[in-house]
Amino acid sequence: MAIIYAIASQKGGVGKTTTVLNLGAALAELGCRVLLVDLDPQGGLTLSCGQEPDSLDTTIYDALRRSTSAEPYILKTSFGAGLLPANVDLALAEMELVGSLARERRLAMVLTPVGHLYDVILIDCQPSLGLLTVNALALADYLLIPVACEYLAQKAINGLLKLVKKVQVHYNSQLSIAGLLPTMFDRRTNHTAQVLKELHETFGSQLRVYEYIVYRSIRFAESAAAGEPIIHYARNIPGADAYRELAREIFLNLPTPAK
Ligand SMILES: Nc1ncnc2c1ncn2[C@@H]1O[C@H](COP(=O)(O)OP(=O)(O)O)[C@@H](O)[C@H]1O
Ligand SMILES: [Mg+2]
Repeated sequence: MAIIYAIASQKGGVGKTTTVLNLGAALAELGCRVLLVDLDPQGGLTLSCGQEPDSLDTTIYDALRRSTSAEPYILKTSFGAGLLPANVDLALAEMELVGSLARERRLAMVLTPVGHLYDVILIDCQPSLGLLTVNALALADYLLIPVACEYLAQKAINGLLKLVKKVQVHYNSQLSIAGLLPTMFDRRTNHTAQVLKELHETFGSQLRVYEYIVYRSIRFAESAAAGEPIIHYARNIPGADAYRELAREIFLNLPTPAK
């Protein structure tokens, strides 16, 4: 059964989608069977995987609406991972789910039937703490929180931690927080270093702040526009290392015989 990571933060632009794409590509490179799940109606992950979200006939929305296995809706990426794509239709799902039965479990109904086909499933959440994100947390083994070292991120993290506690009590006692992943780290500014220091001071005693730091590089935006992961597009930039190192750690801790 796959290990499931939800990549979430209600803050936009912190590197969630970039983390799912590049961590996924790095895991695939190690030989893991990886499924990337786009759970954001903006379809940023789908686009970054080289697909045009609005020209897709079927997406995760169709699977959620029918509460059926994701399998027929999964596409192949150029780097060997599977992709369960999304487009703006997913915004409808959130509205439709609100009044439905087992509304927090719909994503589980979609992904559990394909869990045995993968070693790792990465879920790219939308920047909100709404029902879709609750669905991801209700199913995940781990939550990974990217934190941009740009502004004080503390407030957003506190809100997310409150939601995690609720989800743990009501839906998923197995959920744990893998850690905070510092992203957009700019070596040239003191401010970035200050944010990282504060992150350690505020959360370091209760949560892991990953030692893998994703450096800021314009190459990330370029590679996303080219529909390619950074580890293929610009292999040797320092920002790509963090994703490779994190992938190696996840890979080495897999319970199943992907190794
Ligand atoms: N380490 C980085 N350095 C520079 N730009 C980055 C980095 N990571 C992501 N980006 C860019 O920042 C923007 C927001 O990142 P994204 O992953 O889409 O965030 P989110 O999914 O949290 O909204 C995108 O244009 C992306 O290409
Ligand atoms: Mg995103």
